[in-house]
Amino acid sequence: MTKTSFYGKFICFVVFLSLLIGFTACEGEQEKVDVAENGKAELTQETKAQRDERMAWWRDARFGMFIHWGLYAIPAGEWEGETKHAEWILTTAQIPVKEYEKFAPQFNPIKFDPAAWVSMAKDAGMKYIVITSKHHDGFSLFDSELTDYDVMDATPFKRDIMKELAEECRKQDIKMCWYHSIMDWHHPDYLPRRKWEDRSSEGADLDRYVEHMKGQVKELVTNYGKIGVLWFDGEWENTWTADYGEDVYKFVRSLQPDIIINNRVSVGREGMAGTFDPATSAGDFGTPEQEIPATGLGYDWETCMTMNDHWGYNKNDDNWKSTQDLIQKLVDIASKGGNFLLNVGPTAEGLFPQPSIDRLEAIGKWMKLNSESIYGTTASLFKSLAWGRCTVKPGKLYLHVFDWPADGKLHVPGLQSQAESVYLLSDPDAQLATDYTEEEAVISLPGTQPDPIDTVVVLEFTSEPEVVN
Ligand code: GLC
Repeated sequence: MTKTSFYGKFICFVVFLSLLIGFTACEGEQEKVDVAENGKAELTQETKAQRDERMAWWRDARFGMFIHWGLYAIPAGEWEGETKHAEWILTTAQIPVKEYEKFAPQFNPIKFDPAAWVSMAKDAGMKYIVITSKHHDGFSLFDSELTDYDVMDATPFKRDIMKELAEECRKQDIKMCWYHSIMDWHHPDYLPRRKWEDRSSEGADLDRYVEHMKGQVKELVTNYGKIGVLWFDGEWENTWTADYGEDVYKFVRSLQPDIIINNRVSVGREGMAGTFDPATSAGDFGTPEQEIPATGLGYDWETCMTMNDHWGYNKNDDNWKSTQDLIQKLVDIASKGGNFLLNVGPTAEGLFPQPSIDRLEAIGKWMKLNSESIYGTTASLFKSLAWGRCTVKPGKLYLHVFDWPADGKLHVPGLQSQAESVYLLSDPDAQLATDYTEEEAVISLPGTQPDPIDTVVVLEFTSEPEVVN
């Protein structure tokens, strides 16, 4: 090799190297921008693309089952003649811990059938189950090495309920998720105390409690395979801090990097509306409780709701929402880009209450025909639709008709694009005649509404449809 060609090559190599370094630096910049747009970057430790990937199954699912089960199923909402209690009974009836503990040796839900539970969720069209591994009463429904106040040591049942459910969920392809309460009315180190409590606070040390709780959470995310969501709750007491929240968030993600964690891990939640600022507070999604936001939130969210008026089993609560109401709520939520976590409170024997079973079956029937208009959809393009809701998939609009127009004309305000195909989801072969003006599209529907709860009309487009509101 001549000297000149050696220098030539050397210079080329140096130029190439600096370009490479420059390029990777730019990539780094790009990454930073992504991460900064993506909530608390130092917490999530991921780009927007990585986050989208982590959240994908959950966004796709749209519908899950909440299960509130524990010792409180035994009193079934009743204490000294008062019948309005449920999972809060220890506090709402002011039961001393020693007294409440007596439920544990009575907990023997011999009719618990994990296969049946998971099938009921699955047949209803639900894609994940979030169950109380420990509620505020501090009792663990799983085999915990860190306490004797659990199903294995304190009850005659001695079956790891979480293990059986997790295995069954895996079999039936449903995501297993845990609800785990931060607030703990049993653990001696938890603070604060309620005024009426007999539990002494002497020597109590919240830091030590947090270590205990992290230990339990570690059991929950290492002993039961892959977990979809960790759903924290009870973060509102004044002892819990953003630092604790961030620490727990990081800890859980370090054990299962793909897991999804709700915003109640930290202190940023704004009451029952469940909203928060994902850019400043830990958590992957908002948690509206017993309510549906008026519009989408601009970030991931999930409304949790009871079928009657209690989370835990209350034998006297007959105020059940109708199937129509529940299906329309699911659709309403999907049309705003959220998820619906619908609760069941099983009995002390281990059974779902019959009214819950009936509703799950009826929702399942509707989902069998219509789930395409729920799973994997995104929020409506319309500001409001007088007769119902809209969900969206690439190139498709699903119009959910709750109120069938008397004259058979469905007015779709502001639709600017012409669909290449318009049909009922329940009858894809029959095209529906559609007229377009500048202001709206008008679809001619059949005379009677095939499904009085919600009939879905599908519009297919060759490119993304445009709507002016
Ligand atoms: C509340 C209650 C609780 C229930 C939860 C469900 O925060 O404290 O009992 O588990 O909501 O979202």
